[in-house]
Amino acid sequence: MLKYSKVLLALLTAANLTLLALAFGPRLGVQAQEGSDWQSIASSRGLTDADLRAAVMTYTPSGVLDPYVMFASGGHSGQVFVIGLPSMRLLRTIAVFTPEPWQGYGYGAGNEVLAEGEISGQRITWGDSHHPALSETNGDYDGQFLFIGDKANGRVAVIDLRDFETKQIVHNPLYLNDHGGTFVTPNTEYVVEGGQYALPLGGQYAPLSDYQTAYRGMITFWKFNRETGRIDTAQSFAMELPPYWQDLCDAGKLVSDGWVFCNSINTEMATGGIESGNPPFEAGVSRGTTDYLHIINLRAAEQVFQSGGAVEMMGMNIIPLDIAIQNNLLFFAPEPRSPHGVDVAPHGDYMVAAGKLDPHVTVYSFQKIQDAIAAGPTETDAYGVPVLALESVMEAQVELGLGPLHTQFDNQGYAYTSLFLDSAVARWSLGGEGYRPQDGWALQGTIPVQYNVGHIASAEGDTVSPNGGFLVALNKWSVDRFLNTGPLLPQNLQLIDITQPGATMQVLYDMPIGSGEPHYAQIIASDKLHPWEVYPEVGWDPHTQSVDPNAVLPGTEGVTRDGTNVTVRMSAVRSHYTPEHVEIQQGDHVTWTITNVERARDAIHGFAIPVYNINLSIEPGETVTFEFDATQSGVFDWYCTEFCSALHLEMAGYMLVQPTP
Ligand code: CUA
Repeated sequence: MLKYSKVLLALLTAANLTLLALAFGPRLGVQAQEGSDWQSIASSRGLTDADLRAAVMTYTPSGVLDPYVMFASGGHSGQVFVIGLPSMRLLRTIAVFTPEPWQGYGYGAGNEVLAEGEISGQRITWGDSHHPALSETNGDYDGQFLFIGDKANGRVAVIDLRDFETKQIVHNPLYLNDHGGTFVTPNTEYVVEGGQYALPLGGQYAPLSDYQTAYRGMITFWKFNRETGRIDTAQSFAMELPPYWQDLCDAGKLVSDGWVFCNSINTEMATGGIESGNPPFEAGVSRGTTDYLHIINLRAAEQVFQSGGAVEMMGMNIIPLDIAIQNNLLFFAPEPRSPHGVDVAPHGDYMVAAGKLDPHVTVYSFQKIQDAIAAGPTETDAYGVPVLALESVMEAQVELGLGPLHTQFDNQGYAYTSLFLDSAVARWSLGGEGYRPQDGWALQGTIPVQYNVGHIASAEGDTVSPNGGFLVALNKWSVDRFLNTGPLLPQNLQLIDITQPGATMQVLYDMPIGSGEPHYAQIIASDKLHPWEVYPEVGWDPHTQSVDPNAVLPGTEGVTRDGTNVTVRMSAVRSHYTPEHVEIQQGDHVTWTITNVERARDAIHGFAIPVYNINLSIEPGETVTFEFDATQSGVFDWYCTEFCSALHLEMAGYMLVQPTP
């Protein structure tokens, strides 16, 4: 926070406040004669003291860098948004599951990653990205990798934070959707991907009348190899679960390291069918008073997998449910109605679950869970999974308000829970040792947000040592917060100041996101991120993160032909490509490599060929290779799509495709 305090101090000088006022002044049509001092401008704009406090808490002068970076999922845009805090400036979109032309992702480059994400040979050109997870070392974000799940197609992507690019997409062939992902274990040994809607495994057919016997839930533990920067699918395994709808998961940490917790809904095993007079899902799924918190001994499951306890199905390792039960890998504990998420407290000692249809959060004690397991559960569910009695594992229940969903933590011993129905965020004290025993388990206060908050994210909030200071509410609706741009409204991310103790919190800033719905975010201190400014060496292949042996160094450019296979080797530098003419025949197969030989930061060149759907972003040092069949004859101009220099317009060339006679 040191860097931020300095900025704040600097901002509080009158000179800077005048600048701030000047920045706001013209936009609001403030009359020049009213005075240019900031007090006059603030007064003419009707700004309150609280508004001015919010302004100085968030205003970030030109050239001043944000102390925090938030990685927010892009929902059904399939992407990830990178946002600076507290300025709430959008710094970058990372293309993940969806082709994205600015980054040239899927338009000549990035195709190998998108190909990995194919399901049954079908190229999927979108995703529903839900929960980003930063890699961790000893339970703290380490700034190296980011993972994100695709709820719609049950996939997980790996992003390398050296260049903020997607390197891998994996898919468990046994399952088609997920929600409980991604979450990492404290040293990123595993990336957890919980399922969601129960299905017959492996894409098989089974009628809904066979739901209880043929449908199953699933959780996948993807083994991550930090050296290769890839998930090792051969070392990964899944666990079969009863056909409840597993929801959100979290990994244990410190005392609970080696355990994984997931909530679930639809332990009623409702199958819907409103059109046939059955209760609709919304009623059937919420009929019972409790669902099951899933408690998984991951360390023991790993041993069972490694000693041959898993079976192979469609190339995926899976521990069958009966093996999981026999080896004490899986336990249930009741949780209140329609829970949505379970969050492990910073010291790993408490698990917080909230039922959407219950005004309380329920706090489970990891020690009590261990004691109850040791004592031997006396009940099982319909599938033989041991069920721990709620009173034996519960530490506390705290009444917060209507529709509690997700919980985050800070450095003062407070927890924060989003209240969906109340459109508010509740702050409450953790009464356990090491948090706020002086306050007990108690609601401290709530702050309204606009509107229908889903997830919330606090600074370093999922680590063993949250930073506090800021919290972002990821609101599902924005209604009247912004100028109307038609019936499709943006989501609203609201920045909340949580620096002060007790009930005091303040909404500082509203940030519209005019793209797919951000679900969850993680916020990392920006000094933990060390991305490259340019690629380390000229000729870099970002997919392998090494120099491409086919990189085009100046002097090695040219067009060569072997039968109908044409190889184009091209360099790009301000402000020309070499060569500038490429002459080929209709029917040729073309393999085209371009190296951006620039070493200057931000000297990015684009490369676009019309009709052939080629559009690249070639960053300093990068080498890109793309292939196509020259199906269309004619003359095709190519040009640089990045405004790279005064002679950017001249950075162009011609591809001449002679028609076959
Ligand atoms: Cu290179 Cu414009």
